[in-house]
Amino acid sequence: MKIGYVQTHPVFGAKETNFEQVNGLLKGVKADLLVLPELFSTGYTFVSKTEVQSLSEESDGSIFQFLKEQSQKTGAVLIGGFAEKDVDKIYNSAMIVYKKKNLGIYRKIHLYYKEKEWFSPGDKTPEVFKVNGINIGVMICFDWFFPETIRTLALQEAEIIAHPSNLVLPYCQKAMETRCLVNRVYAITSNRIGREQRGEDDFTFTGGSQITSYTGEILSSSQKNNIGIAVVEIDIEKARDKHLNLYNNIFEDRRPEFYKL
Ligand code: ACM
Repeated sequence: MKIGYVQTHPVFGAKETNFEQVNGLLKGVKADLLVLPELFSTGYTFVSKTEVQSLSEESDGSIFQFLKEQSQKTGAVLIGGFAEKDVDKIYNSAMIVYKKKNLGIYRKIHLYYKEKEWFSPGDKTPEVFKVNGINIGVMICFDWFFPETIRTLALQEAEIIAHPSNLVLPYCQKAMETRCLVNRVYAITSNRIGREQRGEDDFTFTGGSQITSYTGEILSSSQKNNIGIAVVEIDIEKARDKHLNLYNNIFEDRRPEFYKL
């Protein structure tokens, strides 16, 4: 199957411009699964709750319309991040769309820095979405810092992790090699580039979107400063077999009775 990332440079608050950028990058692209960055249509560095509220949307809003269009165009399952409004709460979420259907939403459970001021933390165990016989787990950016996130997805038989991101620290790409190896899963980390100086904050996003294999091999790595897309072919069967050798099955060998702390 063909999987890919879309590395973008969002303009803060300019949803239509940001949709247009992705639309341009996806011209002529065909794939099975494509991942967009965290908060790709709004930008990241909010300065007030009112601002987050005004840029947030419900699950049938412009994000859904856009992902639906792109899924039909590319033939792929599309996963992208957005500020989700649900009654009186706002979540940092990712939507999973295939053709004309919203297959579900993941709400980020580990909020980074001032996200704690703007968003409510996710309120559910990260779940696995089954599409066309493929098990896709979703986590968002800083979730990577907690090994329990991927483990929870892998134990639910996720074969591939979709990882919309707005990375500002330099550690994730290296860490994903180990995260993927010890869970024998593929991962697509889709990051953004650019700088946002807003309010008291000044973030430079690190680019370097990455597709990592079940052995921790880097299958594709994007540049730090350019937008772009990459699609690679993978054999998903490899992520279904948890044997390291004849003697070690990495899930059967776990000793949860010793992990209680
Ligand atoms: C992050 O979680 N966006 C750093």
